[in-house]
Amino acid sequence: MDFKKFVRDVNDFPKQGVVFKDITPLLKNPEALQKANEAMLQLLDSQKIDYVVGMESRGFFFAPMLAARLQAGFIPVRKNGKLPHDTITASYSLEYGDDTLEMHTDSISKGDRVLIHDDVLATGGTARAVCDMVEKLGGEVVQCVFLLEIKALKGEEKLNGFKVTSLMEY
Ligand code: PRP
Ligand code: MG
Repeated sequence: MDFKKFVRDVNDFPKQGVVFKDITPLLKNPEALQKANEAMLQLLDSQKIDYVVGMESRGFFFAPMLAARLQAGFIPVRKNGKLPHDTITASYSLEYGDDTLEMHTDSISKGDRVLIHDDVLATGGTARAVCDMVEKLGGEVVQCVFLLEIKALKGEEKLNGFKVTSLMEY
């Protein structure tokens, strides 16, 4: 299936000069939604995954679907101040300034095999912060799988040492 047909470019969003990759047409189409999930599963080296970690907000679309198919659990990474229990925190840089992501401290135990999922790999700052948190908690990052990757931003370099795969490349 040509998944790129279901990704829409939106110019000047969220700000002037940025071309936003809008995946809502893919989410809306029943066949594309299902097949994109299955195609990401096909990209995995190992189906032996204990938990799929997905990041707020757009990582939440597919991460629980992937987890269900892998008979794994889902663990949310949330933006600052949203998780109610004890958290571990990682800061990452955005174009302007920094932001913070959090996970529950008890979400991962030593030796857990973890798949990381987000919709987009751009600079890799977000995913790197999440990989670091998972490892700090003792988890093993088995692979990172993205719906789409913006190659020019070299996120893969920031994720060196981790296995990175994407369904679509731009
Ligand atoms: C977008 C996207 C990824 C991240 C990728 O999220 O969903 O999470 O940016 O960029 P990076 O590789 O340069 O870190 P965003 O922070 O815009 O928030 P959202 O998911 O809540 O829309
Ligand atoms: Mg995001």
